[in-house]
Amino acid sequence: MSDPDAQLYLRHIESRRQHTDQILSELGYDALLIHSGRSEMRFLDDHSPPFRANAPFVAWVPQPFAEDSLLEIRIGQRPRLWFCQPDDFWHVPPDPPAGWWSEQFDIRICRSSEDWQDCFGRERAFAVIGRRSDLESVLGTGDLNPEALLQRLHESRTRKTEWECQCIEEANRIGVSAHLAAANCFDAGGSELEIHLAYLAAAGLDQDHLPYNSIVGLNEHAAVLHYQHRQSGAPESRHSFLIDAGAHCHGYASDITRTWAADGSSEFADLIKAMDQAQQRLADQARVGNSFVDLHHETQLAVAGILEQADIVKMSPQSMVESGVSGYFMPHGLGHFLGVQVHDVAGLLSSEGKPLAPPEQYPALRLTRVLESGNVVTIEPGLYFIPTLLERLKASPEGRFVDWSRVESFKPFGGIRIEDNVRVTEDAPVNFTRAAWPE
Ligand code: GLY
Ligand code: MN
Ligand code: MN
Repeated sequence: MSDPDAQLYLRHIESRRQHTDQILSELGYDALLIHSGRSEMRFLDDHSPPFRANAPFVAWVPQPFAEDSLLEIRIGQRPRLWFCQPDDFWHVPPDPPAGWWSEQFDIRICRSSEDWQDCFGRERAFAVIGRRSDLESVLGTGDLNPEALLQRLHESRTRKTEWECQCIEEANRIGVSAHLAAANCFDAGGSELEIHLAYLAAAGLDQDHLPYNSIVGLNEHAAVLHYQHRQSGAPESRHSFLIDAGAHCHGYASDITRTWAADGSSEFADLIKAMDQAQQRLADQARVGNSFVDLHHETQLAVAGILEQADIVKMSPQSMVESGVSGYFMPHGLGHFLGVQVHDVAGLLSSEGKPLAPPEQYPALRLTRVLESGNVVTIEPGLYFIPTLLERLKASPEGRFVDWSRVESFKPFGGIRIEDNVRVTEDAPVNFTRAAWPE
């Protein structure tokens, strides 16, 4: 990972402070406390799932694994960070804060939450962000996760700072190098598990440090949108491979998908090629002033065009979209915001912080805003052969326009998704994923 740019980080914190101070004063708060979170044991067990700090904390403090720390923000003051370094001989405590990021905070090292709990209750009006179960005993008169405040803070995270863009760009470089290793492992006949391990090794990341569980699907598993298993045995025949996997840099995610055809799968390879071209056209439309709902509609038309060209559905693209037929083949949204959360916040809020529900026709859409400079979005069109959805289409009046023998021939390939991470700017969009991909 390249060295972080301390100046960019400083400007990031200045921007956070400016927005947060304004929002707090407009909503009548003197202070805001943001908890990093605490590991929770599994039910009736003494083990916890891997810990990941709360996103509102990581959006300030680039320490995604810092447990039980507290950020204390007061209008006009340098933020104070109560950084928890427990006296725990069972585990390795986090490194003490040092260098480029810690200079932006008034740091207090603490051993447990008992050291910082006095922050609660000293203020006339203060808000707290965190999980109720972590904070209940100390909350006092604080407002826990007030909706109006959260919405304003979330909305302010939709325009990324230069620092955040640099982190997402680096997360793309790491992710792309690992995708190349995964593709090589697929070509060499690897199983889903072997491909997953090749990905981790190339990324230099442990499974617990991924931004989300990688989707690594061979053949018909590529049709399972959130396929969660990784089979250790290689299938007898190989048709296709879909991998949706990211990396992270200082808590910021990349979220990248590629689909590959096995040698000799020429018709499926043609579908991938058509989808790749459509995806690049759509990514080029991630521009200031474009509505993401309109882009999603364009995507449905593009998928319908591919279905028509491949003689899978005998309808015009327009009528495929109007009748909902294209939605059976692409049931998810075009994309979402990307940041410290893979599905980053405020995709369904207007710039005034008001709810912006997806249109009835596209309920799965996670982003309904008009794009602004500084947004970072994923562009991830897909085309799948999902048995349960195909059954429903077959039973519908439009089922008669589908060439079902063609559909059957594509089912063993599962489906296609191609996903890039794109920054919206005042000029042309910057595609972080393609920029990192070798020619
Ligand atoms: N990796 C989850 C998604 O693409 O949204
Ligand atoms: Mn993805
Ligand atoms: Mn995504």
